[in-house]
Amino acid sequence: MDDFKLIGKDKVSPIGLGTWGMGGKTYPDSSRDPEMVKAITFAVDNGLSLLDTAEFYAQGHTEELVGKAIEKVEREKVFVISKVWYTHLEREQVIRSAENSLKRLNLSYIDLYLIHWPNEKVPLREPLSAMQKLIDDGKIRYAGVSNFDVELLKRAREEIPRSDLVADEVRYSLLYREQEKLLLPYCKRENLAFIAYTPLEKGLVSSDNFLSKIGKKYNKTAAQIALNWLLSNDTIPIPKSEKIDHIKENAGAMGWRLSQEDFAAISTKYG
Ligand SMILES: NC(=O)c1ccc[n+]([C@@H]2O[C@H](COP(=O)([O-])OP(=O)(O)OC[C@H]3O[C@@H](n4cnc5c(N)ncnc54)[C@H](OP(=O)(O)O)[C@@H]3O)[C@@H](O)[C@H]2O)c1
Repeated sequence: MDDFKLIGKDKVSPIGLGTWGMGGKTYPDSSRDPEMVKAITFAVDNGLSLLDTAEFYAQGHTEELVGKAIEKVEREKVFVISKVWYTHLEREQVIRSAENSLKRLNLSYIDLYLIHWPNEKVPLREPLSAMQKLIDDGKIRYAGVSNFDVELLKRAREEIPRSDLVADEVRYSLLYREQEKLLLPYCKRENLAFIAYTPLEKGLVSSDNFLSKIGKKYNKTAAQIALNWLLSNDTIPIPKSEKIDHIKENAGAMGWRLSQEDFAAISTKYG
């Protein structure tokens, strides 16, 4: 099965790789860099070619690891998401942040650049006019947001002069379904990519008995069932993993789909 999702006009791998915690969390930690670079390269080689990172992650060190991991990969073969932190949302700050991210990633453009979190102290036109300028200058291909509710997303879409936003990245998993009320239906209707973070609930769903039981029918694990359920629900999950076995497992959640009956049974069980 030809498995992909759309972000803007781009076909991307339907599951991505999250990178929070790789190379440190709020502070850089270089002690396992070679292992992290290997994990990211392995993910890309195994079809998880949508990479989610941010300037906030390990104060930029995670972006450096992503850059290193993809330095020999053909540019069009990966789709890189990065994000500007909510304290950098004035126009000039956004432009500077993007330029710094580009340096750390060692790239000439970022595929999708997101406002990481809203900040009500800065008018939306500031970051969004910067996003437009970054698109015009070829430094980013698409703009989007993260952690925006529908109302804020609608307002943000009105503030980007000659483009549109293509994605909202929010928390969504089998066990965290809040966004089904408003945001998910809105994104489906408007053809915006809905990127689901913390899709495995930090690994919790991998030991779920009900999912394991359904998985037996497909020869898949509980984590693979949870990720495939997200795919079937028109979202793009971005599980984080630095373990080769987990990366392989997560990649094995692509290329097939749950039956409608199993999808419905899982939706009801955790709804
Ligand atoms: N935009 C935002 O505000 C925002 C907020 C949170 C997260 N995110 C993004 O979303 C990504 C994912 O979210 P997350 O890191 O919070 O949580 P997650 O992906 O739900 O869970 C990650 C945890 O699950 C483990 N894991 C991965 N695959 C597994 C598998 N097949 N079986 C069992 N355990 C598995 C990982 O361990 P190992 O590493 O040991 O495999 C890690 O401890 C982040 O890395 C980040 O890129 C964005």
